[in-house]
Amino acid sequence: MRVIFLLLFLVALCASNAIDRNNEPEQDWWQKTIFYQIYPRSFADSDGDGIGDLNGITSKLEYIKEIGVGAIWLSPMFQSPMYDFGYDISDFYAVHDEYGTMEDFEALTAKAEELGIKVVLDLVPNHSSNESEWFQKALQGDEKYYNYYIWEDGVIDEDGNMQPPNNWLSHFHDSAWEYKEEVGKYYLHQFVVGQPDLNYRNPDVVEEMNNVIRFWIEKGVAGFRVDAVNCLFEVDKKLWGGKYPDEPLSGAYEVALNDHSSLNHIYTKDQNETYYVVYDWRDILDEYKAKDGLTRIMMTEVYASIQNVIKYYGEGDREGAQIPFNFDLITDVDGSSSANDIKRAIDNFLTYKPVDKDANWVIGNHDNNRMASRYHPELVDGLNMIILLLPGVGVTYMGEELGLVDGYVSWEDTVDPAGCNPNDPINYENWSRDPERTPFQWSAEKNAGFSTADKTWLPVAEGYETLNVEVQRAAERSHLKVYQALAALRQDPVFRYGRYESLALNQDVLAFRRWYDNEIYIVVVNTKDSEYVLDLTYLENVEKDLVVVLRSIESPKNEGDRFEANAVPIAGYEALVLRKK
Ligand code: NOJ
Ligand code: MG
Repeated sequence: MRVIFLLLFLVALCASNAIDRNNEPEQDWWQKTIFYQIYPRSFADSDGDGIGDLNGITSKLEYIKEIGVGAIWLSPMFQSPMYDFGYDISDFYAVHDEYGTMEDFEALTAKAEELGIKVVLDLVPNHSSNESEWFQKALQGDEKYYNYYIWEDGVIDEDGNMQPPNNWLSHFHDSAWEYKEEVGKYYLHQFVVGQPDLNYRNPDVVEEMNNVIRFWIEKGVAGFRVDAVNCLFEVDKKLWGGKYPDEPLSGAYEVALNDHSSLNHIYTKDQNETYYVVYDWRDILDEYKAKDGLTRIMMTEVYASIQNVIKYYGEGDREGAQIPFNFDLITDVDGSSSANDIKRAIDNFLTYKPVDKDANWVIGNHDNNRMASRYHPELVDGLNMIILLLPGVGVTYMGEELGLVDGYVSWEDTVDPAGCNPNDPINYENWSRDPERTPFQWSAEKNAGFSTADKTWLPVAEGYETLNVEVQRAAERSHLKVYQALAALRQDPVFRYGRYESLALNQDVLAFRRWYDNEIYIVVVNTKDSEYVLDLTYLENVEKDLVVVLRSIESPKNEGDRFEANAVPIAGYEALVLRKK
């Protein structure tokens, strides 16, 4: 009797569980949360040296939790001489001294775990620092480490001068080759001179990076964002008579000849071998999952054609990254784009991704101007609605929840090699990534509450007195509060499992519908400063009364307001989440 009762009870429980209604697969932690990128140097400075650090991050984890984020990914915090602010790693197994110690890192992960926040690190496999022990040993003639890098003879020109092996360019306005007297050869660096490229045709390098992965997983991290991964391999020079071939001119309009985009990178990017290294990394991650049940994730950083980006998901029975970053909302559209352009940019990833994989949405990072500056500061809530309510994983660059804008950094204060290398005090802002790296804005206090130092590593952006966490926490309506509401809303089955349809209602207004079972939500974003009365019945099954669930901070509407679906007024830059009654 008791058993029957228990069975009946279980059946009733399943029937009442909304999520099980359509037999949706149980979602894993990474599918349900938001990933929040922290640039450690700029987030919070605990020791007053003007430079963000690990203890600073630990002290702010409660804030991360408060805004509804369940995972952080940290730009590199490994030992580094900082020629590329941490992307030049001199010791892959150690914490950078300005950022703290291994104990500090352990304290960070312990606190994160207590709060239910996963920690993801940046894996930088393409290159090491020229100050790493590996490169130093290579220079001293240690064969093992010499073979970690890519060396090539120079060519002697008509005047008898030694020139680089070919025309390959670094991402930072110079030749990708640097001569080393002690070796008598050039080494390859696709980024700054201080970032010699590692040689992935050498199994020792592959094994070394596998060990780096294992080391940090054993320290408790939940996965990796993988840096510049489409640069891992260069063409196999054996197939080219032992010499790396020149890359063809791209024909890019009005770019200097040493600009990376002046060449078509057919021999230094997107080589087929790359994907199999990524699939092998996934196998390592899965070995740990098999041991303790926790999925470790990979997010790949690749700016490439959509066809190449989606290869990182896997192939056949090989699994790859769960989150091949989708940068379309960074690279394809901005504030000058129409709603039609934005719809197309959104649909691009959804069209190409494998049907059984999750999409993801990235709208900013430490390499691109801040979202609010690239689009429009008044569009912040609308953009966060897009990122957090589209189907798939949402990714936030620190400060997007507040609508932080780019800071002004003078030529004298510029430190980013992308800004400094061209040595052009007039045009450096075209390339510098410092504006999106200015310190996080916590409060109206000195240095926006980021640091007590007299000078911070980059200046704090103007306007921080009114644009900061404290102000937005205290305000009745703020971007921060909209963000929090979105983080909660995306837990609704409609956003977790629901289907998606979008429309450009006119050149300025984008609308999308998410639906699941009988529930329908509509997100409407006016991307420009013009007013309309919208007919939302162009979206299927949208009719009669719609209720405002959430609105952008300048919206003249209120939560709970009702509108007839065929006549919804919308103000300039207004963004709304509506629910069908
Ligand atoms: C991509 C990183 O995001 C960028 O900041 C860095 O300069 C390059 N990769 C080189 O590591
Ligand atoms: Mg510090």
